[in-house]
Amino acid sequence: MLISICRAVVTCLPLLWLASVTDGVPDPAKRELLMREETFRQTGGGVALTAAEQKLDAHLRGLKEKEMAAAQFPPAMHFFKAKPLIQKSPIFKLLQQMPKGGALHVHSSSLVSVEWLVKNVTYRPHCYICFTWDNSVRFLFSDRQPFPRWDCFYWQLLETLRAKIGDAAGFDNSLIQHLTLVTVDPDGEYPSQDVVWEKFEKVFIATAGLITHAPVLREYLYKGLAELHLDNVMYLELRSGLSRTYELDGTVHDKAWILKTFQEVTKKFKAGHPDFLGARIIISVHRALEVPAVKAAVKEAIQLQKEFPDVVAGFDLVGREDSGRNLWYFREALSLPADLGVTLPYFFHAGETDSEGTDVDQNILDALLFNTTRIGHGYALAHHPLAKEMSRKRNVAVELCPISNQVLKLVSDLRNHPAAVLMSEGHPMVISSDDPSLFGTTGLSYDFYEAFVGIGGLKANLGTLKELSVNSIRYSSLPAHLKEAGYAMWKRKWDAFISAHS
Ligand SMILES: *[C@@H]1O[C@H](CO)[C@@H](O)[C@H](O)[C@H]1NC(C)=O
Ligand SMILES: *[C@@H]1O[C@H](CO)[C@@H](O)[C@H](O)[C@H]1NC(C)=O
Ligand SMILES: [Zn+2]
Repeated sequence: MLISICRAVVTCLPLLWLASVTDGVPDPAKRELLMREETFRQTGGGVALTAAEQKLDAHLRGLKEKEMAAAQFPPAMHFFKAKPLIQKSPIFKLLQQMPKGGALHVHSSSLVSVEWLVKNVTYRPHCYICFTWDNSVRFLFSDRQPFPRWDCFYWQLLETLRAKIGDAAGFDNSLIQHLTLVTVDPDGEYPSQDVVWEKFEKVFIATAGLITHAPVLREYLYKGLAELHLDNVMYLELRSGLSRTYELDGTVHDKAWILKTFQEVTKKFKAGHPDFLGARIIISVHRALEVPAVKAAVKEAIQLQKEFPDVVAGFDLVGREDSGRNLWYFREALSLPADLGVTLPYFFHAGETDSEGTDVDQNILDALLFNTTRIGHGYALAHHPLAKEMSRKRNVAVELCPISNQVLKLVSDLRNHPAAVLMSEGHPMVISSDDPSLFGTTGLSYDFYEAFVGIGGLKANLGTLKELSVNSIRYSSLPAHLKEAGYAMWKRKWDAFISAHS
């Protein structure tokens, strides 16, 4: 016993002596260097800021520190509760002013604020409504009493129903509830992913009758571009199934008609807003379909892209991945372009799941095997090292939609979003909104806020914002010359933004 203590003292003494000389403290200069090296790797870490940008960056940092120290931190809360706080945030107000480039992941059925659909569209003449057995609604514009359908027995003219009910505001609010996920009690109302997805799919079906009415569709698309433009977004890649669109007399238009209409609306909007770059469509079909139907859809998409090369960007499969068929299931359909020797760019949703190691989780790697141009969500990418490496090497950007991931219950506190890892490594990435009308957002500012303040934390700076904005042009489907024009347009806006806020 005694011996061992003596031995300990003997061996420890020289060490203690050494420690007192160097203090045991690592070299501060080396520490500084490592920190700078690490920051350099993050999204926007390599962006050199001008003096004016540095001034705004310091201001933003101060604001962020204040928000992080406050009793309630919006990114840690459910978006439906955080929204009023975010609206008051001076960072959010700056983000609204900031030119954000393009929105590359938005679905057509949820492009425009629900308020407009209810307060404007449902007040038009010839609008019929029907309440379904599963507590949902259907709408239909018709010049005569619509026939009963399997899901809809009794159609009522909305004008007559409103007159009968009297309480127009209350009734309109109930309609709004049918067309969005927004609620004051998200945790109570949506206890699980299954429940929130069920409502999600219901909303899409309910909205369809309103926005597939041909005259409404034109105004809807125009309004969608206007809402983005108002939020300083200058470009859109819209995922759309090109659903059958109808006239008052029941005439139905085909997909080519919808693409032509989309082209006309975009042209008209650009004529009135020369600082808007444009809009394209990613044709998408539901992953609930069988292989032959997806095969037909791929063939059709190839044809439509030939007819509308400026409008059609490519193809995607939509719908909940966890309960839907995975990409590998559709391999025969998805290999069709390669087999035919034609190109049809893919923009697959992949890895929008918490279920690590499942077939669904595998979508990430399969999307890359099918040469996807970008990855929708890529929520699971952070724990697929090989897929991550491939996606980085091939410049396949992840479309990060933070609010969507939170509302659809993949993550609750956005500080824990796996994209924090991707951001810290500077993985190719863009920010988007997925389904703005369902989540009660408009434009991209809300999602930029969550990514910048919540996911990026204090590390994310003005360089991060700049890179994320430029990325939306860099990783868009636009041909090189339009990317250049788009970048020049964005740069003018950016410089004006900086000089107005520094
Ligand atoms: C409905 O919306 C259209 C398109 O935005 C607009 O021109 C019209 O004035 C609106 N009507 C009403 C009653 O708000
Ligand atoms: C993906 O790209 C590689 C390399 O260009 C090509 O060999 C392969 O056929 C493509 N696969 C598909 C499914 O398009
Ligand atoms: Zn999506």
